[in-house]
Amino acid sequence: MKVHGVAVILGMVILHVVDTQDGHWPVHTVCNSNKISVKYRSCDPLQDIGFTLQSSCSQIWTKPIAIKVTLPLRKSIDECYVSMDLTFLGDLILHHDEPLCLPDFPRFTFCGSKKGEMISVETSLNTLKLHLKGLYNLMVYGINQDGFQIVCVNATLEFH
Ligand SMILES: *[C@@H]1O[C@H](CO)[C@@H](O)[C@H](O)[C@H]1NC(C)=O
Repeated sequence: MKVHGVAVILGMVILHVVDTQDGHWPVHTVCNSNKISVKYRSCDPLQDIGFTLQSSCSQIWTKPIAIKVTLPLRKSIDECYVSMDLTFLGDLILHHDEPLCLPDFPRFTFCGSKKGEMISVETSLNTLKLHLKGLYNLMVYGINQDGFQIVCVNATLEFH
């Protein structure tokens, strides 16, 4: 895999573009507490992605979850569609499709961003309603209007 040695520093997020031994991006830890640990790795062959939790990870059951996502764009995103698969022990337990940017309905300010731009999204999710146990895998895929992959994230959520 050929990647360029560029490091972009944006706020608190550092995206390292590195050519690792196994061709994988480093594993990033989003959250680590005695109740939950969340780790992820970009599964896009060409780029890493930054996810940070703005709130404390022990509060995700009690307060809205503030997250920040930082991503350099390789393609424009006039449209953007995200899908998520949550699996437990190899079984798909949840599939969710979410259009983030539709042709006439840009839900976020980053909709319409062009190739080469850095997008940085701060958003908040509802408090986690579930009380789960064990190790879950969450895959997140994002594509643009041409079906070009924008993001691929392989995350593990471990509830202790
Ligand atoms: C996700 O990551 C896990 C742990 O590193 C790995 O076993 C699994 O094959 C990955 N899945 C995909 C679809 O890349």
